[in-house]
Amino acid sequence: MPIFSKVGVIGAGTMGHGIAEVAAIAGYQVYLNDVSQDILNNGISKINWSLQKLKESGKLKESPEIIMSRMNPTTNLRDFMDVDYVIEAAVENSEVKKKVFSELDNIVKSSTIFATNTSTIPISSLAESTRRQDKFIGLHFMNPPVLMPLVEIIMGNKTSQETLEITVQFAKSIGKDYVIVKKDVPGFLINRINGRTFPEAILLYDEGHQKEDIDAMARFRLGMPMGFLELLDFTGIDISYNAALEAVKRGEKEPPHFKVLKKMVDEKRLGVKSGRGFYTYTSKVYERPKILPNDNMYSLNPLRIIAPAVNEAAWLIRNEISSPQDIEKGMVKGMGWPQGPLTFADKFGIDNIMNFLEQRYHETGNDYYQPDPLLKEMIEKGKIGVKSGEGFFKWNYERVDLGPVRYEKLHDYAKITMRRADKLNALNEAMWTGLAQAFNKAKEDREVRAVIITGEGRAFCAGDDIEMMHYWENTASVIEWSQKVSSPLIDTLSNYTKPVIAEVNGLAFGGGMELLILFDIVIASEDAMFAIPEGLIGALPPLASSVGVGFVSRKIARYALTGEWMSARQAKELGLVDIVIPPDQLEITGVEIVEKAKRVPPLSAMSIKKTINSIRNTYLDKLQMASQELVLLSTTEDFKEGMKAFIERRQPKYKGK
Ligand code: NAI
Repeated sequence: MPIFSKVGVIGAGTMGHGIAEVAAIAGYQVYLNDVSQDILNNGISKINWSLQKLKESGKLKESPEIIMSRMNPTTNLRDFMDVDYVIEAAVENSEVKKKVFSELDNIVKSSTIFATNTSTIPISSLAESTRRQDKFIGLHFMNPPVLMPLVEIIMGNKTSQETLEITVQFAKSIGKDYVIVKKDVPGFLINRINGRTFPEAILLYDEGHQKEDIDAMARFRLGMPMGFLELLDFTGIDISYNAALEAVKRGEKEPPHFKVLKKMVDEKRLGVKSGRGFYTYTSKVYERPKILPNDNMYSLNPLRIIAPAVNEAAWLIRNEISSPQDIEKGMVKGMGWPQGPLTFADKFGIDNIMNFLEQRYHETGNDYYQPDPLLKEMIEKGKIGVKSGEGFFKWNYERVDLGPVRYEKLHDYAKITMRRADKLNALNEAMWTGLAQAFNKAKEDREVRAVIITGEGRAFCAGDDIEMMHYWENTASVIEWSQKVSSPLIDTLSNYTKPVIAEVNGLAFGGGMELLILFDIVIASEDAMFAIPEGLIGALPPLASSVGVGFVSRKIARYALTGEWMSARQAKELGLVDIVIPPDQLEITGVEIVEKAKRVPPLSAMSIKKTINSIRNTYLDKLQMASQELVLLSTTEDFKEGMKAFIERRQPKYKGK
């Protein structure tokens, strides 16, 4: 519902005609002004075309003809005499804008509000060209105004609360959601954060990374609708360059990516419009660059993009420019981010964001990366995000220690950590039992959608602990060990109905590697090491040589029969590991995979898991057989010698008996 009757729009270019269309659709009488009749005619025919499209898709309540009857194109500003609200979308030149406003100031009613759609010029400096600074405000639309759901409302230094309230009502009346920027800062909210993310993509490119990998990381790891480089090409490299140049002219320090932009502009690599930017465009019609998910995207740390965005968001909050909620809304509705930067931060961990910024600051010496004091303060108060129950927002958090196993509920997933770092997280009785309890706890909690398992210290898990050697003394005790200690966990995992993600942080040997066969997604640090050396001590790896060979790969035979070590990449070739990642990305990649897994609804996930389990469990009789073999081996002299030599750290002397 219109909140008054007449709206004036200055400029009938890309933004102006779109804004006029939005206002007319909402029921306002619209006065659209430009310098020439030709430009106005062009704007009007574009509005007509757009209204027809909206009609065809059933999005109009009235006919295009009725809507157009409210449109009054004019080259004469005097026709604005009765308008209640003016939106200026003239060319981005402060002299032109100031001239228009000062002229209008003498034409319109004293109650009329002036809004400017400027992207870069301070609102307050434009307001000074009028005698109504209290009735002057920023109203920043996104392109195209008809389709984009959000506007930024920016307060000038002297904007009154009443002007803000009327503008909020106006935004609502034209069907737009809004964010409020309480102080007149360059870039407002969305472009301030964009001003931190786009440069990082450009710098990664300048450092020699492939454009497709950078964009693949943004799209397929962070879930952005477009890669940053393809989006830069789309909007025009010159636009970004000019925005950066304006900032430098205003006295801001030259941003680190400035030289790259300048070089591209000098070389006429302006993006889609010049046929070449980061990508090359051969067809006359715009075709999106082909960006495919690939392994290289895992070598690029998503924090390169997210950490500077969070730092900027923290600055906006600390300076009381925007609320956390508006920051999130701005980036989600304005830029199509899957979640706002603060939610990313809470999920990835404010500590990780902080460490990353400090490292970048240290590496580059550029105060562009200096962590905002708000982040430091949050860390001092223990507010590090989901894993502490509170960061920028509040989260459900629960922690229980089950012997050496820590169970944490991280809002909607669980993290299970093996915590015997001094023993390389070896599986003693308490560890086996604690793991079974933790997995069962996660299973019973309806809110838990996925489970992460990892190890503390330099190992994921070194396998069975020699402390349990007393179990291997005779047949009866081996059977008892299996029934009492290992089977409860193996049974639980064999029938588990939620996705299990392993973060392999270091060595995974013996039983530690074998358990991976029962997990669904294995992320390994690139310096992790794997082996199933049980054969070397006169035993056998029961899970690996049965379920492992059948369900994962025949190639496991090589490692079972030789005890050879393998790297994370070799384990990936085997099919045991899914993603190999630099060590500093392990934790955030786990979060990323949980986020992806949560897109599958719980019942589907359960059905998928049941099906997978049914296939994996067809090898359980082979595991039974392997367990019987282990019982037999446990009675041999070679087995005893193997154990003894292992404890005494010497070469065993095997006799084949
Ligand atoms: P444009 O160049 O397409 O249109 C500007 C229009 O202003 C032209 O039609 C021009 O003839 C007219 N004009 C120039 N002097 C005038 C005057 N004295 N009186 C009346 N009209 C005059 O530019 P565009 O892209 O529509 O941008 C307009 C404003 O919106 C700029 O301030 C820009 O920063 C801002 N903006 C642009 C966005 C975009 O994606 N293009 C997004 C958000 C804001």
